[in-house]
Amino acid sequence: MQDKEKPKIKVLAVDDEEDARKLIKAILGSIYEIQLAESAQDGISKSDEFKPQIVLTDLKMPGENGMSLLEAIRAKDPSALVIIMTGYADKATAIEAIKKGAFDFLEKPFSPDELRAAIGRAAEKVKLKEDLRIAEIKAFDNARLAALGEMAAGVAHEVNNPVTIIQGYARVLKKLAGGVTLDKNKVLEIAEIIDKTSVRIAKIITSLRKLARPDTKEFSLISVREIIDDTIGLCGERFKNSGVQLTIPEISSNLVLQCNQLQLSQVILNLLNNAYHEVSKKDEGGWIRISAKDEGDQVEIAVTDSGHGIPAELHDKIFQVFYTTKDVGEGTGLGLSLSRQMVEHHNGTLTIDKDSPNTSFVIRIPKSAA
Ligand SMILES: Nc1ncnc2c1ncn2[C@@H]1O[C@H](COP(=O)(O)OP(=O)(O)O)[C@@H](O)[C@H]1O
Ligand SMILES: [Mg+2]
Repeated sequence: MQDKEKPKIKVLAVDDEEDARKLIKAILGSIYEIQLAESAQDGISKSDEFKPQIVLTDLKMPGENGMSLLEAIRAKDPSALVIIMTGYADKATAIEAIKKGAFDFLEKPFSPDELRAAIGRAAEKVKLKEDLRIAEIKAFDNARLAALGEMAAGVAHEVNNPVTIIQGYARVLKKLAGGVTLDKNKVLEIAEIIDKTSVRIAKIITSLRKLARPDTKEFSLISVREIIDDTIGLCGERFKNSGVQLTIPEISSNLVLQCNQLQLSQVILNLLNNAYHEVSKKDEGGWIRISAKDEGDQVEIAVTDSGHGIPAELHDKIFQVFYTTKDVGEGTGLGLSLSRQMVEHHNGTLTIDKDSPNTSFVIRIPKSAA
């Protein structure tokens, strides 16, 4: 049922003999979308627009031969599968063609069944590749959703704090209103706190809005400082309230990179949340540092914390999906694996700096990753 909707696989058949072309079209025409060409040159120029997935070509033709066509097609589209048709005396050349990347060869003369079988094998491979590509896109979509979930969990924590404060003071106001006299100054003081606290929530929402811009699926040129500032907008208050000191050494506003803002922000937020979780276990004096460096054609962003550190034997394990040492409901074990995936989507790396005396996660991303 689904197969009916799928477009037919495209086959370009190249042969200098008209009868041969007609025969191929007659045998394959009902199953595949066929384009015919009468020479290698003709095949090359037709392939530009037709974009065949399978190319069936005669080897010996006047002008350029099938081997040149093979090379030209492979150079244009390495995923196109080329099948060479040869006479029985051309075996050595056929082997040569396979070495040059031909998918298969078909000895002439062939029966309709032999032709169908050879093209069928190639079509099978085309379908497999297509299925794999779709599966990859789906997996990436799932990861994207999971990453958003991780982010949402962090933001929920962040908003929860000020909401609790506002609720608390609203209750105090209610009590005050129930009293015999009303202490105006007290009311004003409380109103001030509520006001300030709602500004915090507004800030969080502004940061979120920026990240949720419709163009954030794409790569764009953006300043590293802006990304870091917006990310801190989503977690900084929580850190401050728990006495965790967050430091950001000077980052030049000239430091820009081509990236997916939402993803990079998610990665930084994951690292900050992990650091916070670790550092807030300590009684006092915990700190987190987030720094960015210009490394020529790369940008390096490091999140370092004063926590207990991660034993070397766990350095690989913590990047595995679902590995977590947190309680149920506190951790998903997805943060680091998703973060690494998103950084790799930028052709970058996410590693632990083994030489750092403190726990330090390092993101390295080429400035123009796209
Ligand atoms: N900064 C850190 N300090 C100490 N341990 C960390 C740090 N970051 C990550 N980890 C460890 O790596 C594990 C996996 O992290 P992550 O993939 O983000 O999942 P989660 O945070 O949901 O547990 C954490 O449970 C923790 O044990
Ligand atoms: Mg985490």
